[in-house]
Amino acid sequence: ELASDLRGRRVLITAGGTREPLDPVRFIGNRSSGRQGFALAERALARGAEVTLVAANAEVRPPEGVKLVTVSSAQQLAQACAEIAPRHDVIIMAAAVADYRPVTVAEGKIKKEQAGEELTLTFTRNPDILQDLSAARGSEQVIIGFAAETETDDSALLELGRAKIARKGCDYLVVNRVGWNLGFQSDENSIFVLSASGDVVSRHTGDKVSVADVILDLLVNV
Ligand code: C5P
Repeated sequence: ELASDLRGRRVLITAGGTREPLDPVRFIGNRSSGRQGFALAERALARGAEVTLVAANAEVRPPEGVKLVTVSSAQQLAQACAEIAPRHDVIIMAAAVADYRPVTVAEGKIKKEQAGEELTLTFTRNPDILQDLSAARGSEQVIIGFAAETETDDSALLELGRAKIARKGCDYLVVNRVGWNLGFQSDENSIFVLSASGDVVSRHTGDKVSVADVILDLLVNV
């Protein structure tokens, strides 16, 4: 047991996937289950951290002992993070956040009788929470982002990851491959961790609990 190597660290973890409403009963979402983020919360707690978990539509039960905040849309997640982040030493953005949301949310159900044979939706960009938190961070804060990508070969995956960490401005980026049956919703995960300079500082394949420990190891001795 790694015992209490994170004792006293205040860790904010986002998990799950955002839902962008179209009308009162419909949304655009993604298949993130929240498992990896919840595993991070569980392991951070076990290693002595104080954990705030901001959960968006997760399919799994949150670990006992976290401070739980629930949100649904990207804008709600952004607002919660902006408010909560300054009180934390570490931010881990494991949530899958929608890059776009519908420009308008219909007041009543969108009806096929009105839309006809084709329905066109127009989207606008959501704020990039990770980028905004990284730009606003205190000098002592450590920020870890995620990149779930469908690239099948490792070098393309890493190239994307390097461009992404440069753009986002976080300290580490956890890169993993996702697909129809990979990453999201499964119990296993395979990751590369990139540092801000683009180096691969760790790699690991295993269940989401062991992946969580590899990620949290980044926080020890920094
Ligand atoms: O750009 P991309 O969506 O691949 O970035 C993934 C990382 O950025 C994740 O850590 C995710 O939580 C975060 N993100 C965010 N705000 C967005 C989109 C992604 O914080 N609007």
